[in-house]
Amino acid sequence: MKDLTPARASLDVIEIASIDEIRATQLERMRWSLRHAYNNVPMYKGRFDAASVHPDDLQTLADLVKFPFTYKNDLRDNYPFGLFAVPRDQIVRLHASSGTTGKPTVVGYTKNDIDTWANMVARSMRASGTRPGDVAHIAYGYGLFTGGLGAHYGAERLGCTVVPVSGGMTERQVTLIQDFQPKTIMVTPSYMLNILEQYNKAGIDPRDSSLEVGIFGAEPWTNAMRAEVEDAFDMHAVDIYGLSEILGPGVANECVETKDGLHIWEDHFYPEIIDPETGAALPDGEMGELVLTTITKEGLPMIRYRTRDLTRLLPGTARSMRRMEKITGRSDDMIILRGVNVFPTQIEEQVLAIPELAPYFQIELSREGRMDQMAVKVEATPETASNEARNASHRILAKKIKDVVGISTKIMVGTPGYVERSQGKARRVIDNRPKEV
Ligand code: DLL
Repeated sequence: MKDLTPARASLDVIEIASIDEIRATQLERMRWSLRHAYNNVPMYKGRFDAASVHPDDLQTLADLVKFPFTYKNDLRDNYPFGLFAVPRDQIVRLHASSGTTGKPTVVGYTKNDIDTWANMVARSMRASGTRPGDVAHIAYGYGLFTGGLGAHYGAERLGCTVVPVSGGMTERQVTLIQDFQPKTIMVTPSYMLNILEQYNKAGIDPRDSSLEVGIFGAEPWTNAMRAEVEDAFDMHAVDIYGLSEILGPGVANECVETKDGLHIWEDHFYPEIIDPETGAALPDGEMGELVLTTITKEGLPMIRYRTRDLTRLLPGTARSMRRMEKITGRSDDMIILRGVNVFPTQIEEQVLAIPELAPYFQIELSREGRMDQMAVKVEATPETASNEARNASHRILAKKIKDVVGISTKIMVGTPGYVERSQGKARRVIDNRPKEV
C-alpha cells in the first residue's frame, strides 16, 4: 500500500492548532450555539428554563454538563420542522432517516450548513488519503439518507472527479470501477464485501484494481474487517463517522497515517462521553455513550444529543483534535443474552478470525421456553465448501464465541450465498423473540 499521508501544508490550520486554541474556539462557538438554540427553538427554551440554566451560565466548556440532553424522540415529537432554528425558507436541504418505527426524523441545513458539511467531508477524505484530482466512486445511497449526497459534496469540494453511483447493482459497480479507475471508494463496509464478492465472481483480481483508499462508515465495523478488506484489495481502509441529526458523514474520521481511531472535527462538534444509565459525564478514556453538541450549526442546532453510540475519547495523535475509538455498537443494538452483553462487532471479530469462513454473518434471536437463544448464520468460503471443512469451522466458531464472548450459540454454516447480502447498512440482528407487551 502506498504512503498517502497528506502534506502538512494541505491541512486546515485548526487541525493542527494547539489544544488551547481549539478550546478557545469551541468556547466562543458553544456560547453562540446555546444562545442560538435558546432564542430560536421553543423546545430548547422550555428545557433550559425548566432546568434553570441559561446560555449565559456557560463560563467554561465544563459548564455544558448543566444543560439538558436532547434525544432522537425530540425530533419525532417535533416532526417535521419544529426544531429548526431558522425560518423554513432559509433551509436549503432536507434529509430524513427512514425510522423503523413511526415517523422518520427530519433534519434541515442552511446554505452555510451545507458549506460546512462539504468542508468536513473534504477534510475527512484528505485525512483518508484522497487527493484533489482523484476519481472518487461513491456507493453510499443517494436520497434522503445523508451518505450519498454528503460524500458527494465533500468529494467535489476537495476537487475530485466524482462518480455518483449510489448503492446497488453490484455488477455495474465493478464495471465502473474497472472502467473509470477511481482511487477512492466511499461505501458501507458491508456493501464493500458485496463488491469484493462480485470481483471474485467476475474472475478479476481485486488487488489489481485502481482503488487505493476505501472510506467506510455508516455502520459499526471492526479492525478485523479492516484487515480483511485491506488485504483483499491492497488498499487503505479508513473509518468515517457521522449521523444525520448532527450533520451526516464527516463528524469524525480516521487519518490514513495512523488508523488509530477517528479524530472528531472539534471545531464544529463538541464531544462528551456519559454513563448511558445515569447520564453522568465520564472522563476521557472511559467507555460510554457519545454525546455531541453542534457549535456552528444554523438550521438544526443540537445540544447534548444522545447518539446511543458507544466509544471512548482519546487524545489527538495525527491531529490535535481528540479521537474516538472505533464504535463498539449502539446501545440499542446490544443483545443481552442470559445476562451477558453482546455486540454484533464481537461476533464479527470471531467470524473473521476463521479463514474457512466468508466474512458474512447474521445473528438470529429466538426464545425457547423462557430462555433466549442466539444463532449465528455464517457461510463457508467457495474454496472450503466441503462438509469436513464446514463442520470444523462450525466447531471452532462455537468455541471462540464461547471463550471470548462468553455465550453458547447455535452456529449455522451454509454454502456461499446463504447469508443475506447488504446493499447499504447491514442488518446484523434478526430478532424473532416474541414482543413484550
Ligand atoms: O449513517 C451517516 C453516515 C453516512 C456516516 C456515511 C458515515 C458514512 P444515519 O443514517 O443517521 O447517518 O446513522 C447514524 O450510524 O449513530 C451510528 O450508530 C452509525 N454509524 C455511522 N458511522 C459509523 C461508523 C449515517 N463509522 C448512525 N462506525 C450512527 C459505527 C457508525 N457506526
